[in-house]
Amino acid sequence: MNSKAKHWDKIFSSTEDRLLGWYEKDPSQLLKLLDLSFDWKDSLVFLPGIGTSNIIEELLSRGTRLILNDISQKVLDKIEERIGEKRTKVSLCCQDIALPLPDTIPKVDLWIDRAVLHFLTEEKDIVGYFRNLRSIVKKGGFTLFAQFSLKGASECAGLDITRYSVEGLTERLGIHFQLVTQFHYTHITPNGDPRPYVYVLYKRLSRKTQPTLIAFGSTGYAD
Ligand SMILES: C[S@@+](CC[C@H](N)C(=O)[O-])C[C@H]1O[C@@H](n2cnc3c(N)ncnc32)[C@H](O)[C@@H]1O
Repeated sequence: MNSKAKHWDKIFSSTEDRLLGWYEKDPSQLLKLLDLSFDWKDSLVFLPGIGTSNIIEELLSRGTRLILNDISQKVLDKIEERIGEKRTKVSLCCQDIALPLPDTIPKVDLWIDRAVLHFLTEEKDIVGYFRNLRSIVKKGGFTLFAQFSLKGASECAGLDITRYSVEGLTERLGIHFQLVTQFHYTHITPNGDPRPYVYVLYKRLSRKTQPTLIAFGSTGYAD
């Protein structure tokens, strides 16, 4: 087991979920944009670094199938125990998301990353992450990020962070992903500390569609 996996296994073995800095009882911030127009039923969603997020049950209740990734086997064991009979709707993938995903992973309708990409600080890892994303998000599919914003903390879980702006994410994705919308949201940790995030939704263009801007504006959630 590599040292990153050990680090995360230790965190998830030693701390109750509801005391983790990124814990959200209600993950609806992530879903409210998609709930407006995304057809959840029978969609396939990939979530890198899922942790023990409550988004799993929210998504399953909307009729999705999920591929849940995490570097920590401890995380995936906890999830397996938690979801019970819903296990048939879920595939688990334990690996570093910066490394190439197995060829057996199918194309997905949606990639949702809250608080994972920002832990990648080496260029080769960031490049590997986006290569994975591009290899499995379908044309016409969506990508949703919630990452520490430029006003965000510079470390989390004892690790350095890469902070993101909308422009930074857009540049990393490349021209075949079109910005749909974005907003800023400040998460409050269980200790009461503010953690400013940037939320950004993109659509992957089909080959025939020309890259043009659909919408660009804040929905009013100020840091
Ligand atoms: C801050 S937690 C966020 C968890 C979850 N996404 C949420 O919003 O509650 C970061 C998660 O990413 C996982 N992680 C960290 N680095 C990773 C990597 N390189 N590949 C895959 N998972 C990783 C950790 O084990 C942890 O579950």
